[in-house]
Amino acid sequence: MSMKWPERTIKEPDRELPKPTPDQLMSASEIFHDNSALRSSNTQLYSWIAHVNSAPDIRGVISRAFTHFPGCPVTPLPRNFAPSPRSFEEILENRRSARDFNGEPMSLETLSKLLYFGDGISTWWNTPDGLDWPLRTAPSGGGLFPIETYCMVLNVEGLAPGLYFYHHLKHNLECVVEKDLTGALSEAIPGQAESVRSASVCVILSAVMQRIKFKYGERAYRFLMLEAGHIAQNLLLTAEAEGVGGVAVGGYLDDTMNALLRLDGVEEAVVYLALFGYKQKLPEVTTSR
Ligand SMILES: Cc1cc2nc3c(=O)[nH]c(=O)nc-3n(C[C@H](O)[C@H](O)[C@H](O)COP(=O)(O)O)c2cc1C
Repeated sequence: MSMKWPERTIKEPDRELPKPTPDQLMSASEIFHDNSALRSSNTQLYSWIAHVNSAPDIRGVISRAFTHFPGCPVTPLPRNFAPSPRSFEEILENRRSARDFNGEPMSLETLSKLLYFGDGISTWWNTPDGLDWPLRTAPSGGGLFPIETYCMVLNVEGLAPGLYFYHHLKHNLECVVEKDLTGALSEAIPGQAESVRSASVCVILSAVMQRIKFKYGERAYRFLMLEAGHIAQNLLLTAEAEGVGGVAVGGYLDDTMNALLRLDGVEEAVVYLALFGYKQKLPEVTTSR
């Protein structure tokens, strides 16, 4: 049976309406920044955060949120480090990005220092509600530690080349894939093949999004990126203290890096890299008068 449907007429304006110019539209990053702003009017988020901070069942889980690769070969890392003879101020002033390395293998002790001072567990917080909460050298929004640390070992004494996971709790490395991945890493960092070829290790920081998003919502993305920056600076300053060269690398191909680590890029994604190796000695410059 056909139904009678009234005629629809839409009145068109007699001239085309003006369109917004690109500078009148907000870009995706502007929208994100505004959408992730904390405002006193956002009472629902504040009460959720207060709930997370006080609920014993939630606190028990989040104080022990770790990635782990059971069954993978484990390499324990040395821990008794000699203190650096250099002052903190001198280390800060002398840190410079290094992209040319001399190709010598890095010692396991040096890699261990990078990882421990980069984001290792430096203390255990005995909370008033009876938890032992591991805290690290780098700060973390809400103590949720969404950033995981992987190492692409290229040339390190005592470690076969491959992809390793840094297990914070145990301060050891779990070998996820034993394979020379120098070529694959070079492809993932366009234009920096020579740095990759001569480096000893690429430290890869990934973010487990839900570990922090569940508490802070949109704000979480800001927090995890800030945390990755804290860790990267710790790594670079430790490298400088050890006479090791390093450079932060933000210019990597996301999909290629995520595929290398078998990450989906949504639940967990690579957010930052840093290359390290012993510094290339520059030829001595002699001046004659
Ligand atoms: C977020 C971020 C991303 C970076 N990405 C790269 C990169 O992809 N490749 C590179 O060679 N250097 C990279 N750098 C290093 C900068 O080029 C370097 O820090 C800057 O030129 C200042 O030099 P300095 O580190 O020696 O003080 C990056 C630095 C930061 C903070």
